[in-house]
Formats: sequence, C-alpha cells, structure tokens
Amino acid sequence: MAESNTDTKSSNQMWGGRFASGPDAIMEEINASIGFDKKLFAQDIRGSIAHATMLAHQGIISSDDKDKIVHGLNTILSEIESGNFEFSRRLEDIHMNIEARLATLIGPAAGRLHTARSRNDQVALDFRLWVKEELEKTEKMLTGLIAAFLDRAEEHAESVMPGFTHLQTAQPVTFGHHCMAYVEMFGRDRSRVRHAIEHLDESPIGAAALAGTGYPIDRHMTAKALGFREPTRNSIDTVSDRDFAIEFLAIAAITGMHLSRLAEEIVIWSTPQFGFVRLSDAFSTGSSIMPQKKNPDAAELVRAKTGRINGSLVALLTIMKGLPLAYSKDMQEDKEQVFDAAESLELAIAAMTGMVRDMTVNTARMKAAAGSGFSTATDLADWLVREAGLPFRDAHHVTGRAVALAESKGCDLAELPLSDLQAIHSAITDKVYDILTVEASVASRKSFGGTAPSEVRRQIAFWRARN
Ligand code: ARG
Repeated sequence: MAESNTDTKSSNQMWGGRFASGPDAIMEEINASIGFDKKLFAQDIRGSIAHATMLAHQGIISSDDKDKIVHGLNTILSEIESGNFEFSRRLEDIHMNIEARLATLIGPAAGRLHTARSRNDQVALDFRLWVKEELEKTEKMLTGLIAAFLDRAEEHAESVMPGFTHLQTAQPVTFGHHCMAYVEMFGRDRSRVRHAIEHLDESPIGAAALAGTGYPIDRHMTAKALGFREPTRNSIDTVSDRDFAIEFLAIAAITGMHLSRLAEEIVIWSTPQFGFVRLSDAFSTGSSIMPQKKNPDAAELVRAKTGRINGSLVALLTIMKGLPLAYSKDMQEDKEQVFDAAESLELAIAAMTGMVRDMTVNTARMKAAAGSGFSTATDLADWLVREAGLPFRDAHHVTGRAVALAESKGCDLAELPLSDLQAIHSAITDKVYDILTVEASVASRKSFGGTAPSEVRRQIAFWRARN
C-alpha cells in the first residue's frame, strides 16, 4: 500500500472553493493522518455502505446512485485488501482517500455519499467499530489465557509452594491456588472488557458535524445495520466523545499491570536460585557470550510493554483533557495510541498464554522451598490455640520462641525435638508434628477461597463453568 505525494487531487479540491492555494508542505505533514488511519479502511467502507443504503431507503438519494456507491465501495475494499490502492497524503485521511477514489470509479454519484454526514461522525463511527472489534478480540484472548491457567491449576491443585508476602516466605500454598489468583485477575479484566463493549455499543453516524442534520435520516436503521444496540442520543457528545478509546486503554493498562506481575514472577521463578519453573525453549533465549544462560526475554518484554500501554493511556487522557466541545483536530491523535496499545496488549497476552502453557513446573523445588523459612509457624500457633486453648497472641509469642530456637540450631520447626518444644510450652505434645508439614498446613486451609486442594478444585469448577 504505497503512499504518494504526487496525487493531483489536493484536499482543497475536496472541500471546495473557499481555499485558493494548496497547503504548505508542513501543514500537509502535520495534518495528514492517512499514515495510520488507513487501518480503518474496512470500518470506513462498512459505515459508508450502511449510510448510503439508509439514504436511499429514506429517499434522500436515488437507489440507482446507492447501487453505484455500494458497488464502488466494494471495489475499493478489494483494492485495498489486495494492496492495489494508492493512498495519498494530500487527501489527508482514510475518509477522503476513499471518497476521492470513489469519485474516480463512479463519477458524480460519489458526491452524494457525504449527504447528511460529516467526517466528525464518520471518524467517530469508524474508530468505535475498530475498538469494538479489538475489545471482542481481547475478550477471546483473555478466555484463552484463563483456560491455560485453569489447566495448570488443575494439574497442580496439590503441588505445594511457598506463598510470599513482601517476597518473604509466608505460608505454604498450592501452585494451583497461585494460578487461580491470576484467573481471578484476568477474569476481572475480561468483565471490564465486556462492560466496555456495552458502553460503546451506540452508533455515532448521523450526528453529522455536531448538530445533527435536516435530512430525514433514520439513525436507528444505520445503528442496526452496523450491529450497534442503538444510536447515540446527543449529537454534540457523539462527535466530542472518545471515552470508548480511553476505556479500552484503561482496560489495557490494568490488564498489562496484571500481565507484568505475572511476568515478574516468571522472571523470579525461572532464576537458578528459585528454580520453580523452567521456560520452554520456545519462550526463552540464550546468551551470545554465556552458554549456560536461558533468559526469560518474553516475560521481560511483557513487563516492558505494560509501560508502553500506560504511556498511551496517559497520552490520550492528556490529549482529551480540557478540549472544548465538540470536535477538535487534537482528537486525530487518538488513533496511534490505541493502535499501539492494542498491538502490545495482543502480543503480551499471546506470549503469556504460551509461556504458561509451556513452562515446566519443578514441584520438588517448590516443595523444598515451601518448607523452609519456618513457613508452618502459623500452623503451630493455630495448633496451640486449638489444642492447648491458648489465646492467639500468647500462641504467637510461644511460636516466636520456637522459631528463634530452630533458627539458632539451624533446623526447621519440624526438626526440633519434643523436649525443646515442651521446654517452651508444656502443653505441646508429639501430635504437633502432624501439623508441621507443608502438606498438612495446606490441607487445613479449607476456608472459602483458601489454599486447600479441595478449595482450589472448587474454584476451578466455578471458573470452568464460566469460561
Ligand atoms: N482525520 C480526522 C480525525 O481522525 C477526521 C475528522 C476530521 N474532521 C474535521 N472536521 N477536520 O480526527
């Protein structure tokens, strides 16, 4: 799809006799959006076909002209799809590129297509359609990522790993439970996507420049033809609004934040020091100088893409901030932010889905780490409450002494002899050893949403029914 500056038809010819001379070269450069908004060609053509069909149905244009317009637009669609369309920067944007080509193809009837509309409602329509499709794609991709986690969670409902707070060993959990935490996060992201689709599901076309139109158009007809629930209700808001784009970026930013936390965990887990997971060769790279290395590049790039997506959100919020109603050309800067974020988000979700599916989980390493760092100390305190009737605060204190002793002896809690434990508190019996293992600790946490394998399986079933 080549761009050319040699086009004889300047944009001035498109907007008629008011302008005597062509634009300054710099003006043309700053004004043109064809370099990026050509991405909207399919949405533009769909919108124009729906608009022309409605105009004919309402008797605003003849059905003969409508047929010519629709035929011409379909020809342009295949020209663009097959790479046989010459985009021109002098024609500024996708809307005028297509309209100018239509005039070449079908002659004067092309001039009737723009009746009762403006580029302001046209671009609002094209961009909304594009964002809607992107949200639908995101919803599917998140479903795929959730499915990958559900499979791993099922496989590892019983695999014990250390749970962390402050990245310090806290209490044993199961890897399945940890996976299900991400299912919750991406499940919320997906529901945000669904809400955003509902919010934007209103058709802008027919708002015209900002005030509506005197032609007897039928906005409900175009809304229906384009798959929208209903037309927008206020023509001024319609051409001023970019909330749908900002909402997409906000969702992308939140999803990216979740992806970056996962990316960070994968980076940590795949170090030789942790050794919890091994990434597949497909999702890691070697070092050109250090042969032993296997780098989690894909995870690192996902972590970085999040920064880029955040930048797009802040950029568009800042572009829109303080703009008076209705349309201002500032709004042309909306598209690149959304296109770039969408590409980053798609890549990041796809890479993460692949990594999660492919990574090898080292359950032995996880289990060994789960037992270190006195991770069952809370279980000991709980046992003292339950079996010896101590108040929790006292039990916490007694346990703290046991931990200090084990630390000074360089052993685990479960390795302290009974005599040592009894010297700390006389109510301790040898039954305590049953609860000091990581498996017992995990199995005991049966509270709703807890880490016990039985609970994790309940969570998996809940999400399976919704995925
Ligand atoms: N290329 C423009 C954009 O993306 C289309 C709308 C132009 N409207 C106008 N009144 N100049 O925002």
